[in-house]
Amino acid sequence: MPLANQIAIVTGGARGIGRSICLKLAGRSATVVAVDLNTEGLDKLVQDAQQQGLPGKIVARMLNVTDREAVDALVEQVVEEFGKIDILVNNAGITRDGLFMNMDDEQWDMVMNVNLRSIFLLTRAVSRYMVRARYGRIVNMASVSGMMGNAGQANYAASKAGVIGFSKTVAKELGRRNITCNAIAPGFIATEMTDVLPDKVKQGVKQIIPCQKFGEPDDVAAAVAFLASPEAGYITGQVLPVDGGLNM
Ligand code: NAI
Repeated sequence: MPLANQIAIVTGGARGIGRSICLKLAGRSATVVAVDLNTEGLDKLVQDAQQQGLPGKIVARMLNVTDREAVDALVEQVVEEFGKIDILVNNAGITRDGLFMNMDDEQWDMVMNVNLRSIFLLTRAVSRYMVRARYGRIVNMASVSGMMGNAGQANYAASKAGVIGFSKTVAKELGRRNITCNAIAPGFIATEMTDVLPDKVKQGVKQIIPCQKFGEPDDVAAAVAFLASPEAGYITGQVLPVDGGLNM
């Protein structure tokens, strides 16, 4: 099993793409610490993993990824309990869409905090242990919006472009320690986040995607599992689109 004896932290694991990532990594024998604000979703994830009889294990912890003290404490607890952290997947993210001229400070700050600052907090806390262990795989969730821009998403696109710049910098700073850091840029993936889009928008988007359909959370999870694996050790600082060809 490719991830046997590996410990992973996955943020935003309670639903959508994060949930699929947790199940995928546990399916490959990893021990996954799924963190989220949504405790109901986390409970269901743990139950479903048990029912599916996955070879790995999922444990759930409530965490607000924007809370520095809580992030540091969680990372310390995981190392105390499991001895190390091999994989960090920074997946938690939110949208607060609106045209930028009408966007208020709170809309901007919330999205920056959850989508970008949290990645800095988690990566800083975890990389201390990865550096000592001389091993690590960090995968950060960007978005096609961060590469192309998207009307109505100035805050979101800026945060995701920030994720890309941050990931490349971490790759440069930690490469010689055998730690890789990559970003994934999903296009339109069928989750509760995109479910709220009007049908007209969804139809319009599908027409411009070469694959002519939305992706599934599992499509993103498969890419994460690859970049998180020991085999991907010579791939770092990259942005992997999982978007049905939307951005090329
Ligand atoms: P989702 O909204 O279904 O799930 C996000 C999860 O993050 C939720 O469980 C939520 O409770 C959690 N979360 C939010 N704020 C948090 C906080 N402060 N602390 C801890 N957990 C928190 O979203 P989805 O669609 O699964 O997206 C996952 C990631 O993929 C996000 O970073 C998103 O920006 C990115 N993405 C999604 C795309 C899509 O089409 N669904 C496209 C491109 C990127």
